[in-house]
Amino acid sequence: MSGTLENFTIVIFGASSDLASRKLFPSIFQLARWGHMPENFRLIGVGRQEQSHEEFRAFVRSRLLEHSPEAAADAARLDSFCLRLFYARVDLDDPAGYARLRDQIMSDEGNGRTCRNLMFYLSIPPSLAPVVVRNLGAAGLGGREQSCTGWRKLIAEKPYGHDLESARELNRVIDEVFEERQVYRIDHYLGKEPVQNIMVFRFSNGIFEPLWNRQYIAQVMITIAEDFGIRGRGAYYEEAGLLRDIIQNHGLQLLAAIAMEPPVDLDADSIRDEKAKILRSVRRFNIDSVRDSVVIGQYEGYVAEKGVAPDSKVETFAAVKFHIDNWRWSGVPFYMKAGKNLAKSVTEIVITFRCPPQNYYGPSGGAACSTPNQVVLGIQPDETVAIRFGAKRPGEQMITDPVFMKFDYRGTFQGEGLTPYHRLLLDAIEGNQMNFIRKDSVEHSWAIIDSLKNAIDGQAPELYPVHSWGPESSRIYG
Ligand code: BG6
Repeated sequence: MSGTLENFTIVIFGASSDLASRKLFPSIFQLARWGHMPENFRLIGVGRQEQSHEEFRAFVRSRLLEHSPEAAADAARLDSFCLRLFYARVDLDDPAGYARLRDQIMSDEGNGRTCRNLMFYLSIPPSLAPVVVRNLGAAGLGGREQSCTGWRKLIAEKPYGHDLESARELNRVIDEVFEERQVYRIDHYLGKEPVQNIMVFRFSNGIFEPLWNRQYIAQVMITIAEDFGIRGRGAYYEEAGLLRDIIQNHGLQLLAAIAMEPPVDLDADSIRDEKAKILRSVRRFNIDSVRDSVVIGQYEGYVAEKGVAPDSKVETFAAVKFHIDNWRWSGVPFYMKAGKNLAKSVTEIVITFRCPPQNYYGPSGGAACSTPNQVVLGIQPDETVAIRFGAKRPGEQMITDPVFMKFDYRGTFQGEGLTPYHRLLLDAIEGNQMNFIRKDSVEHSWAIIDSLKNAIDGQAPELYPVHSWGPESSRIYG
């Protein structure tokens, strides 16, 4: 495959970041191993410290040996991969550094005419993104640059801004330097196989979609639970908190996938149109509505973490009840629960259906059925789709038990899977924006989170014990 691929250069800002070590380098190595990278691709790592190409290669090699079993097992391939790596020292706010970077790119070092097609990857804090993009533009490396005949792409890592205002400002800066069709805002959740399956499950099967609305669905529950804490990212978490770290992006993207209308076709913009419409329809919060729609929590011991203020009010847990004000979903609560240091790591979506009109098998006269039907979409660690229904327990009596019909991804499909970063990098290389977030959706998501944060302003999070299911008062959220 590599013979037919156009050569390109990938420039990673934040080459010494944890993300680059744990996700980007291993994914790019693996793509090269599978023949999804052109033979003479070039990777330029950008950082502040003085470093030679050789030193950078040694650094990436050590990261790959630690984080990529495939690299550790294939010394020859690792050697040839490292030869494709180069380093550029750039102070992010110094335009002269970008001019040097441009010269380095255009010098065609690594021979293969890689200078024409450029992919910039921003793995840096959101506050630095505008200055990098502006400087790329000023150095003639932007996507609107007419003098270049190749393609240019910008991949921006989350968090994408810090609130609506900063996200708008970043979008505005990017707009000046790149066209929207060249911009790939990454949310790695959209590269997860079971997340990509949500649309397929809904729109390639005739039996679910007729029921997928307020008439038949009683509620939706989205859980993103992790059994570990902030893993040393105190400074980042103090800025972000869980609402910005998880709900603004991963959580709302899952909600959009569950709730969106069928797209006109599978064109990236057709799909993103529908997601944007849903995020626009999510009801904003105010001081009155948050009272019975939001619980925030903080795990015990969070304030003792490195980089965390001793009196920090930052949330590491949130349970939120969303409403979508449109014809399909009016009146159906979308619950979302996410948190750090919870009882176990699990991401799943549970769609609970309404009960049949008469309840023969539950407690007599009860309005509720004993076994509401559910579709359970397991995202991780289980990659499953399960349908829950009531079955008669064998024996004389008419007793109903809940049972499951289950599809398990890994049991059904074999082969080396793609991780989210493989998949999304591959999509970006191929120019498919379907699973990247468009600027309007980013802004709608921030508008939702800003309204929530403003409404709870100053509220102290409830403490919860490590490895519990969060604060007591969030139990009503399922
Ligand atoms: C990241 C968050 O975006 O997603 C982390 O910053 C979180 O806090 C992570 O742990 C979860 O992703 P995954 O794919 O490892 O479950």
